[in-house]
Amino acid sequence: MRISFVTEKQPKSGAVVAGLGEGGKLPAAAKELDKAAGGALSRALSHARSPGKRGDILEVTAPGGLSNSRVLLVGLGKPAELTARNLEDLGGSLAAKLNALGESEATLFGTTFAGGPSAEEAGAHLAFGALLRSYRFDKYRTTEKADAKPSLKKLAIGVEKTAPAKRIYDGLEKVAAGVFTTRDIVSEPANIIYPKSFVQEAKKLEKLGIKLQVLGEKEMKKLGMGALLGVGQGSIRESQLLVLRWDGLAEKAKSKSQGKSPGKAGQPLAIVGKGVTFDTGGISIKPAAGMGDMKWDMGGAGVVLGLMAALAGRKAKVNVIGICGLVENMPDGNAQRPGDIVTSASGQTIEVLNTDAEGRLVLADALWYAQEKFKPKTIVDLATLTGAIMVSLGRSTAGLFSNDDDLSTQLTAAGKEVSEPLWRMPMGEEYDRMIDSDAADMKNIGGRWAGSTTAAQFLQRFVQKGTPWAHLDIAGVTWSEKDQPTVPKGATAFGVRLLDRWIRDNHEGK
Ligand code: BES
Ligand code: MN
Ligand code: ZN
Repeated sequence: MRISFVTEKQPKSGAVVAGLGEGGKLPAAAKELDKAAGGALSRALSHARSPGKRGDILEVTAPGGLSNSRVLLVGLGKPAELTARNLEDLGGSLAAKLNALGESEATLFGTTFAGGPSAEEAGAHLAFGALLRSYRFDKYRTTEKADAKPSLKKLAIGVEKTAPAKRIYDGLEKVAAGVFTTRDIVSEPANIIYPKSFVQEAKKLEKLGIKLQVLGEKEMKKLGMGALLGVGQGSIRESQLLVLRWDGLAEKAKSKSQGKSPGKAGQPLAIVGKGVTFDTGGISIKPAAGMGDMKWDMGGAGVVLGLMAALAGRKAKVNVIGICGLVENMPDGNAQRPGDIVTSASGQTIEVLNTDAEGRLVLADALWYAQEKFKPKTIVDLATLTGAIMVSLGRSTAGLFSNDDDLSTQLTAAGKEVSEPLWRMPMGEEYDRMIDSDAADMKNIGGRWAGSTTAAQFLQRFVQKGTPWAHLDIAGVTWSEKDQPTVPKGATAFGVRLLDRWIRDNHEGK
């Protein structure tokens, strides 16, 4: 789909879409059309059930007097409540509707209200929403009928001034590119994406200026990463630790710290992702039903990739390290057994009582490496870590666990702004005791209760004192069973927009 910004008021062909405020008065853009159509629009409007209700679409097909295929009047709701996010949802829903109708071209006019987003901002966010919704992972569908495929090829956004709208949209488009990077890699099956092929995909980001560093099993063994390596040892695919680096502040930091010790300015943020490219459960094998879902158990690592692409794409003024712990968890003659004791890179020993609680083992060594090697000022990890978080929070909100109140507040606020909501979950000593082991420093399961929190307590044992850290359990939100306004069903990329926003609001140029 090609998106453009235009100033033309009366497109001759395709569908025309105009916004309608609550109460249902025709906006300026539609008045002209109504006149040309001999009042067909106002007549249709007089029969609408709740004119202007946000998201309601009134459809007038081939009105006489107009050469357009359709006019759609879309409800914008209460003017005072119209936000950039609402407009994205509207843009997304409209894109879906236009595709369902078989339209190949459409022009969208965003009506604006005093106090709300400007016409240019509104137009850019409408377009962004339409773009996000138009994502499709269809590379393996070779026999799909033409009339089942999306029809919308050209989407024009009508604004007063194209240049400012385009400028806003350019930044948003880079974020969408990051979102698509994540959705692409998370959607791929596990016979295509395994640790080494994940790294190959990541190499495509080098053209954006991202630097890569890869550790294989030999290097990880040297570093004593027994926790991560234990998970991968039943797989014929070699485990990998992938480090991505975006130095958007490098120049500034260098000049600032000349003669001085390198201050906090250059210290990076670290984003760490669980990248279990397939999770069978290992010897503690999962039941067959639904096991295919575990192809997206690398969702956290997928978000790391997409976030780095977004930051580099829009040349964010920030230094960020992305770390992906990449392994495949398989049962095999060489797989680790329940009861095995492994030694992590931190030196702490772990009794592996359930080989299906593998994500925390991978993250233990990845988190440790992030701190030892890069001394980050803040760490955020993302992981499809526990089924228990879905029991707690369902399929729309991710769990937030943190040792830092300010960081939690920032992340929660960012999530709210982009509709990727987080809910902070409790942590504490009483939970920490639940993973004490009789045989080693800790065990990798905490029993029946508070399963997401005991997993987070496990991770916290690998976070060094004084480092602000947050863990996002995204098991419930990485994959969507249904279409949402800006998220088609499938891989959501939940986390990319959130962390992009968090960085933009709290760390850029700082
Ligand atoms: N990858 C799973 C968690 C998961 C489940 C993600 C469903 C997405 C959807 C994780 O590795 C796992 O198996 N966790 C176990 C932990 C248990 C053995 C303590 C779980 O949640 O059952
Ligand atoms: Mn598992
Ligand atoms: Zn897993």
